[in-house]
Amino acid sequence: MPHVRLDEVTKVFRPRSRRDSPVTAVDRVSLDIERGEVFAVIGYSGAGKSTLVRLINGLEPVTSGVVEIDGVPISALPARALRRQQQGIGMIFQRFHLLRSRTVAKNVAYPLEVVGTPRAEREARVAELLEFVGLAQKAAAYPEQLSGGQQQRVGIARALAAKPSLLLADEATSALDPETTAEVLDLLGRVNRELGVTVVVITHEMEVVAQVADRVAVMDAGRVVEHGSTYEVFTAPQTPTAQRFVRTVVRALPEGEELAALRAAHEGRFFTISFSDAGASEARVFGALARAGVDFNLVHGGVDDIRGRVYGLLTIAVRGPEEAVAAALAQVGPGVQITETGR
Ligand SMILES: Nc1ncnc2c1ncn2[C@@H]1O[C@H](COP(=O)(O)OP(=O)(O)OP(=O)(O)O)[C@@H](O)[C@H]1O
Ligand SMILES: [Mg+2]
Repeated sequence: MPHVRLDEVTKVFRPRSRRDSPVTAVDRVSLDIERGEVFAVIGYSGAGKSTLVRLINGLEPVTSGVVEIDGVPISALPARALRRQQQGIGMIFQRFHLLRSRTVAKNVAYPLEVVGTPRAEREARVAELLEFVGLAQKAAAYPEQLSGGQQQRVGIARALAAKPSLLLADEATSALDPETTAEVLDLLGRVNRELGVTVVVITHEMEVVAQVADRVAVMDAGRVVEHGSTYEVFTAPQTPTAQRFVRTVVRALPEGEELAALRAAHEGRFFTISFSDAGASEARVFGALARAGVDFNLVHGGVDDIRGRVYGLLTIAVRGPEEAVAAALAQVGPGVQITETGR
């Protein structure tokens, strides 16, 4: 049974005045999120990502369709049962949403106070959580005395206080610089691996997806237009929306004017080289060409790391007699695709 299941979920916001029209924020979305995975939802502003999250934790009622958590249709639960379900779901936010007048420890303790956890148990849990997020030294500090990354780590500790099995992160790193983002993503990875928590990451940053997500769904105008393993979607995006996102982190092949400019600058025939297997590398390709005595140079592309797997996409210009080039390319070996770049 999936941890989260969405079946034909639609959310329509009714207009406040008669001059406005209704907004379909989420449009017939069906998705399964498996227990223990890191699942990312990506899409442009207004695509419906935050609304989707609010439907998953029951903060918004669905207009139609079903949201199930562990097989329980939360979209049909009465208020009290819904609140009990929501205790199994943690949430972190872009702006951290910490209470300024409370210390770090008291912020983390807050959800436990709300449900009436006895004091001794609460304090032990808070100490354990602050240890886990690496902020034991900051227990008595106030949020404004912390950096953005530290504040988000407090947010994560607080979200974990009630031992949720599902953590929803809505743009949790969007307010952070790249280095701090990496730190927070590392922590989310540990939450997933060490605590077995299912993590749903909402983001418009592809780097975030590449670093942490097992699978990704791409949203566009309320619909999920594409989903699959991060590697699949990154190396072979099917929809224009996914292609535009992927291009921000994974190099695409040069085309149009860019390709024309490269041809003007480099002599020889152009070849596209791609590899995704462990063991394949640009060094092996270049080595084979060099050993065959073919003159070549790299004109475009590079090698990316997607969720720990290699993906290389290179364009080279090759000069030499046709047979020598063919023989050299034939020696490159398995796991590498080579095709001549069309004109
Ligand atoms: N409470 C609401 N009332 C009316 N319309 C809403 C409400 N919440 C969201 N919307 C509309 O629903 C659509 C989706 O909004 P949503 O916030 O889910 O997008 P998003 O993908 O999270 O965008 P962003 O990346 O900017 O956070 C938008 O057109 C938005 O204006
Ligand atoms: Mg949003």
